[in-house]
Amino acid sequence: PEHRLLYGRHVLVTAGPTHEPIDPVRYIANRSSGKQGFSIAAAAAHAGARVTLVAGPVNLTTPRGVDRVDVESAREMADAVRGALPADIAVMVAAVADWRTRDYADQKMKKRGSAPPALMLEENPDILANVASGGQRPKLLVGFAAETQNVVDNARTKRKRKGADWIVANDVSDGVMGGDENRVHIVTEAGTDAFDTMPKLEVARALVDKMARKLDEIDPR
Ligand code: C5P
Repeated sequence: PEHRLLYGRHVLVTAGPTHEPIDPVRYIANRSSGKQGFSIAAAAAHAGARVTLVAGPVNLTTPRGVDRVDVESAREMADAVRGALPADIAVMVAAVADWRTRDYADQKMKKRGSAPPALMLEENPDILANVASGGQRPKLLVGFAAETQNVVDNARTKRKRKGADWIVANDVSDGVMGGDENRVHIVTEAGTDAFDTMPKLEVARALVDKMARKLDEIDPR
């Protein structure tokens, strides 16, 4: 009902990896379980938002009350995100592959008798940066940064470079990938909010709570 923190708001979440096909049986990808993004979608729906979850290839069930759009590649994710706008809040949690193969092979590449192929790569669109500079920029735009060192410094730089309002930095140097816990710092224009290590669902609740309050501040009702 109306008293819920995100009632009447539209929240867009990207989650999971992208797969960039090499041939019909092979791809390149980033490591991502999708758990943190799915938890954020679930927490936003629980807070009363209409939620669109653009998901790369993951093995997770759709949270209750969430509209899910499945995609494979970064370019498909970019199209799905464009199609889901406008949104009040967008949280880009997906681990998007930075590069795709330049020449997709329609038939399986054969190993026998040929030298290993040289893969030519080209850059994928930066979905977060494009949403930040686009015509339908959400009122609150949040990116993620998985780092193994200088976590907060890198997140500060990334916040400016990408034009996001907040960057949620997580230290992935040990155990976070695929696990159920996460330790994040939320880097905003005002400073850095450091959280303890906690289950991904609790990270999601804390982030959704903070986002809902911020949205009420910049877009009161
Ligand atoms: O540059 P980096 O990949 O570390 O940035 C991470 C943030 O940018 C995440 O929020 C991720 O979802 C987003 N991103 C994106 N499109 C890309 C690369 C990253 O939306 N092509």
